[in-house]
Amino acid sequence: ARKMSSGRYQVFVTRNDMPQGGIDLLKKECDVKMSTHPSTMPREDLLKAVAGVNGIFCSLTDKIDKEVLDAAGPGLKVIGTISVGHDHIDVAECKKRGVRIGYTPDVLTDATAELTVKNLELRWRSFYRHHAASPEAQHEARCGGWKSWAPTWMTGPGLAGSTVGIAGFGRIGQAVARRVKAFNTKKILYFNRSERPEAQEIGAIKVSFDELLTQSDFIICCAALVPETKEMFNKAAFEKMKKTAIFVNTSRGGTVDQDALIEALQNNTIRAAGLDVTTPEPLPLDNPLLKLTNCVVLPHIGSAAIETRNTMSELTANNILTALKGEPMPAELC
Ligand code: DGY
Repeated sequence: ARKMSSGRYQVFVTRNDMPQGGIDLLKKECDVKMSTHPSTMPREDLLKAVAGVNGIFCSLTDKIDKEVLDAAGPGLKVIGTISVGHDHIDVAECKKRGVRIGYTPDVLTDATAELTVKNLELRWRSFYRHHAASPEAQHEARCGGWKSWAPTWMTGPGLAGSTVGIAGFGRIGQAVARRVKAFNTKKILYFNRSERPEAQEIGAIKVSFDELLTQSDFIICCAALVPETKEMFNKAAFEKMKKTAIFVNTSRGGTVDQDALIEALQNNTIRAAGLDVTTPEPLPLDNPLLKLTNCVVLPHIGSAAIETRNTMSELTANNILTALKGEPMPAELC
């Protein structure tokens, strides 16, 4: 890569709140410029800021497309995203230009699986005629709704003895299955393009998407957003689910036809949903999902464990540094 007049590579970091570990690593070897915005950079500022850089350290909130690559110019050698998901990057365009892409698989699997199970937990125990959910249970305890122990109050379906269906059985889907198994579930089903050898040891059974929908008590989406998974959870899918089904999504909002989900929740076509991802993000405050008592919305915090985010930051930096030196990257998107 072309070095700048300082003799050092120039890297632009699109957020000023990236975990420090990665930034420190980059600063040892590169000239690092960072966004000064308190949150996601406005597009026009991003386009100006990347001009002439060799590397971009970005997050899933930045759309890295042809326009950004053009704005950066021919000196750009690498995009490092602090995420495992890469649907915000025009991968084909990067390939065409020889711009390498680094991402952060593996290091966030545990944190994301933990949050997925937590999200499941928020949903599974606290439903009685769709009215109560864990945040509401907290509210009852704090605000005097807790009058006495009551046999049917705050009850909901248990995980023990249930069938859990996981759509997308990659790293995160498998990590979720391993955790869920510990709750004495009856069956774990998975839907995936290819058979996964790890499924045998986990005891998960490969089924068709329709079987997953019709047989599962809990349906968890762990599928990456690609053209084939876009809105795979649509009206027809929700209609095939059990009326008592609980749907959890911690992958990308785009895997769901959100209007169809809202309708399914409003009409009690399914019992409830727990979402860590939505379309768009952040979800506008007037979105019906935020008003529904049978839906928990979390603000995309799947990987938000302190150590995980720092490791992701360091991995992103190492991806960038190695790419700039023309070396093999620790996690290159091929
Ligand atoms: C990812 O990495 O893609 C998650 O959505 C955020 O950590």
